[in-house]
Amino acid sequence: MKEIKKAVIPVAGFGTRLLPATKAQPKEMLPIVDKPAVQYVVEEAVNSGIEELLLVTGRNKRAIEDYFDYAIELERELEEKGKTDLLNVVRNVSEMVSIYYVRQKVANGLGDAIYHAKGFVSDEPFGVLLADDIIDSSKPCLKQMINVYKSYPGIILAVMKVPIKDTNLYGIIKGNKIDDRLYEVEDLIEKPNPMEAPSNIAIVGRYILMPSIFESLKDTKPGKNGEVQITDAIKNLLIKEKIYAYEFEGARFDVGEKLGYLKANVSFALKNKEFGKEFKKYLKDIVEEA
Ligand code: UTP
Repeated sequence: MKEIKKAVIPVAGFGTRLLPATKAQPKEMLPIVDKPAVQYVVEEAVNSGIEELLLVTGRNKRAIEDYFDYAIELERELEEKGKTDLLNVVRNVSEMVSIYYVRQKVANGLGDAIYHAKGFVSDEPFGVLLADDIIDSSKPCLKQMINVYKSYPGIILAVMKVPIKDTNLYGIIKGNKIDDRLYEVEDLIEKPNPMEAPSNIAIVGRYILMPSIFESLKDTKPGKNGEVQITDAIKNLLIKEKIYAYEFEGARFDVGEKLGYLKANVSFALKNKEFGKEFKKYLKDIVEEA
């Protein structure tokens, strides 16, 4: 069995749900406390054993490439001033992992973004992480999925139960429970109305995919919102591949929308070693006053 050493992070979307903050900067660079959202996801990949990462970028996303590059002048300045701690923080960001970039010229959907990884992936299974979904867990979510893959080689989708009224926001699976937290997928539907949803088990932004996804994506017509949907391409593989859905352990924040972004900031700030306690007190005080 081939090990999973490569992963793809698509970051070419417009981020319209966070406008106007995302008018002139990538949503993936918005900070969650003191690190850009994309760094949480890159760290998750690295801590899951990923050795090579491909970021699918687009126009207005250059800040992401700069962020993971060396910042020569800044580093020199920090060195001269003896700010070694900060220097290490800054340098570590650019030395975490080998990152490659490809541009999606037109934002034709997540499926199309993943199709741009064809050359990078070649003939290996690979991970996909969406920077919109930050998952806080003691064992990185992708690592949990890679462990599942070792016993159940196939496509693995990260899932969580959502309120039935929210099924129209997610890809939803129909599945048979086969193990602890694990379902064998029989069908999947992109953003069904609650009335038509086969379950309340929703796909979130972590996938283990096979190279067969590229053949399928090539044949997948634009679906909901006129975009090439990854859910549709995975669905087309139901007859060919084993597809599993894994209920990961951890808390997931949708930082691609305003409320989720705020919740992530509050949650991570409360855990912050430097000022978490003080922040908690501050929150308590203002909530009591409100
Ligand atoms: P979303 O649909 O959540 O991202 O795609 P978006 O389009 O940026 O968001 P809104 O709806 O306008 O606020 C999920 C992920 O897929 C990437 C996005 O960057 C995000 O990480 N994506 C989406 C692409 O890379 N290319 C696309 O064409 C669409």
